[in-house]
Amino acid sequence: MKILIKGGTVICPYNNIEQKLDVLVQDGVIARVEQEINEGADRVIDAEGKYVFPSFTDIHVHLREPGQEYKEDIASGCAAAAAGGFGDVCCMPNTKPTADSEAVISYILKKAEQAPCDVHPIAAITKGLAGEELTEMGELKKAGAIAFSDDGRPVESSRMMRLAMQYAKAFDALIISHCEDRLLADGGVMNEGVRSAVIGLKGVPWTAEALMVQREIMLAELLDTFVHIAHVSCAQSVECIRQAKKRGVRVTAETCPHYIFANDSIVQNYDAMSKVNPPLRSEQDRLAVIQGLLDGSIDCIASDHAPHHIDEKLVEYNTALSGISGIETSFALSYTALVKTGLMPLSELVRLYTSAPDSVVHLQGKGIREGAPAKLTVADCGRESVIDAASFVSKGKNTPFDGVKVYAGIVCTVYNGQIVYEA
Ligand code: DOR
Repeated sequence: MKILIKGGTVICPYNNIEQKLDVLVQDGVIARVEQEINEGADRVIDAEGKYVFPSFTDIHVHLREPGQEYKEDIASGCAAAAAGGFGDVCCMPNTKPTADSEAVISYILKKAEQAPCDVHPIAAITKGLAGEELTEMGELKKAGAIAFSDDGRPVESSRMMRLAMQYAKAFDALIISHCEDRLLADGGVMNEGVRSAVIGLKGVPWTAEALMVQREIMLAELLDTFVHIAHVSCAQSVECIRQAKKRGVRVTAETCPHYIFANDSIVQNYDAMSKVNPPLRSEQDRLAVIQGLLDGSIDCIASDHAPHHIDEKLVEYNTALSGISGIETSFALSYTALVKTGLMPLSELVRLYTSAPDSVVHLQGKGIREGAPAKLTVADCGRESVIDAASFVSKGKNTPFDGVKVYAGIVCTVYNGQIVYEA
């Protein structure tokens, strides 16, 4: 299969290209990148007025398989990833059974062989995510685990997290921390503040997150090792990370499109589609998170794609499950909030979706250059569209952004030389 992508503006953060170029894909790899290619191809994609990016990387995705295929499975989650412009996804281990054994990691990798993107499983830090016994990190890494996390819940014991970081350091493995002090969160369902008081829902204070962020930073400092902070949602977490980086602590962090695009005001209709953990925070927090992206305190954007069955969401706010099905709207929400508003150039946003997440989890080999695997995303950034949850490729239709106007639609996604998604 020969694909010629003609007339698009190529933005490639891996090798600092921002230029109008034609791209020829042949036999699964990028064969030529030149100003004008006039060669016969099986498919010619007219990218005039559009952009060509290396396909995106999402380092925080819940694919739900094995065990919760009624919410999502590897095939549907990866098809959704392709629709969102992603060529690499790292999937979280809160599956059933937990991805805490070689068998589950191998199962995920085997199932992912047919997928329209590369899947990198993240294994659990503790067995069954119970926080009591460490997993066999060395063996899990050998089996293909790209990182370790108990995401969905925190490692509550500081001693256990210290041991985990020590152990991970020995295997050169990355710990990704879900930062939440559950005693402080105390069953809260939204951000604690004026709004939670007014609408009468129990709040989660920002301290529940920031205290844990600070704990992880201090442990990483103590052990002189790496730690990655998942889904940063509040100003104080950003500040802890900013100060730690200044001291030279090897901490990295991600935030998610929903913390960039929305604040806790959207909770006031009591629609549990907006329930997510950590919760949507105040406008001040949203702006601080954006500032964190702008000054490099936050390294990248990840979707925390958390598909749920509609029956788990169409219930009272207090009983609904937390999570947003976000991989298909990730780039458009971020683009609309950051680039359309003039806060960030497009090339910087593309970096936050490609080389930046790759460097957090040490993924290599991408980029728009001759000989590289053909993993590309064509986007129409000028195109206005309205988010339509019913048309999601993901099984999870749970989004608070249904009906919202956004920019930057994915036109097509190429994975290893094949068109795996076309709008
Ligand atoms: O809202 C969330 N949903 N936050 C998490 O940390 C886990 C996720 C899930 O697995 O549904």
